[in-house]
Amino acid sequence: MRAVQQAVLSEIVDGRIWASERSVWFSGVRLRARTSVIRLDDGRLLVFSPAPPSDGWLRQVADLGDVSWLVVPNCFHHLGTPVAAAAFPEAKILAPRSAAARNPDLRIDVEIHDPAFAAAVPECALLPLEGVPFLDETLLYHRPTQTLFGADVVLRADEHDHWTWRFAARVTGCYNRWSVPHDVRKKVVDKAAASRSLRALQTLPIKRLIVAHGEVIESEPLAQLVEAWRRVGVES
Ligand SMILES: [Fe+2]
Repeated sequence: MRAVQQAVLSEIVDGRIWASERSVWFSGVRLRARTSVIRLDDGRLLVFSPAPPSDGWLRQVADLGDVSWLVVPNCFHHLGTPVAAAAFPEAKILAPRSAAARNPDLRIDVEIHDPAFAAAVPECALLPLEGVPFLDETLLYHRPTQTLFGADVVLRADEHDHWTWRFAARVTGCYNRWSVPHDVRKKVVDKAAASRSLRALQTLPIKRLIVAHGEVIESEPLAQLVEAWRRVGVES
């Protein structure tokens, strides 16, 4: 199934979750990178891993509602946020300090480990992936839809991807198999901490996992996530 069109928002969960994809070049391969939009309980919108918005995308979002949050999920997925922030001046930016350290144009309104976000948006939970400061990723769990959002915690290439990524994915074991990104595998500095983070995820009822690179995972999302990390030595 090919549910998400390039740079256009497609509905993933009726009235609640939408996503768009764009092409990005990273380390010599062309990946698809997803941006997700969640309608919060107050009717406003949270944008997870913002891309630089196109005019068409902005029109679609304007039809959905006001954007109250822009979420930078790790220290790699920050590039589109300054441009998105200019388009949504009322939105607060939730991000890790490690992303701002890499991007002087990135403003942070609420640091991603600050409990202020959970107080403001009680239907969401933030779950840091500890032990991998190279990525410094925090996952977001949306309780009303039982959806877990991540960026690079796992990724997968398939037949819809550009040949450069299909080729690299076959070499690195990510073709049609959810895997920890190749450049992250050797950067797990505390496996016990990563294991604790994965166990925390396993306490949640998770219907789907939506990450940046690969299709939406609705078939055993937690088991596939756990298995990917088990293959790099992180048991949970
Ligand atoms: Fe990524």
